[in-house]
Amino acid sequence: MGEADKKGAYDRLAEVIRSCRACPLYKGRTQAVPGEGNLDAEVMLVGEAPGKTEDEQGRPFVGAAGQLLTEALERAGLPRPTVYITNVVKCRPPNNRTPTEEEVASCVKYLREEIRLVRPKVIVALGNTAGSALFSLAGLKWRGATAERGRQVRAKVEGVEVVLLPTYHPAAALYKPDLRGLLEKDVEEAAKLVKRGRQGRRTLLDFM
Ligand code: URA
Repeated sequence: MGEADKKGAYDRLAEVIRSCRACPLYKGRTQAVPGEGNLDAEVMLVGEAPGKTEDEQGRPFVGAAGQLLTEALERAGLPRPTVYITNVVKCRPPNNRTPTEEEVASCVKYLREEIRLVRPKVIVALGNTAGSALFSLAGLKWRGATAERGRQVRAKVEGVEVVLLPTYHPAAALYKPDLRGLLEKDVEEAAKLVKRGRQGRRTLLDFM
């Protein structure tokens, strides 16, 4: 797809998301939050759902957890404009509760479309909701965030060959320095995967 077509498709998708009323979450939102970033990104990061600040600003990961994620990306040499960041669910659940299965089932079509559009090489799943949704799209069994964290799993999602890399959610890492260290390490591993690929070195991505 050409650059202009891709941008057009993204803009149309973002508009559909902003006016979506497919599940009851629309009733409590200030605004829906489509993903954003580089439409040609090699690395996509997927969170759970917008929080308060994201709901107010209409952008993903712009609150405290977003700040932590932005810093982890910078440290790894993957500044935010180079990646694509989104959530499984595009509207804020009341009091930031975990989205229900029904809400995920209703909203995951947008994540699927984002993956088909961006065609990333590595998808970092931030936390349990993202890991579980992405593994399910890949037809893989999800054993929970603690068991899966830090694994690199080759998978086909929406016809796109990717490495899925589950890690902790940045909100969980906010108050737990050990989790923060692991999250930073995992983001660095994602960066290494794509950098080695660009240097023509063999990575997990070559075996797909
Ligand atoms: N938490 C998420 O899962 N997503 C955001 O966009 C912000 C906080």
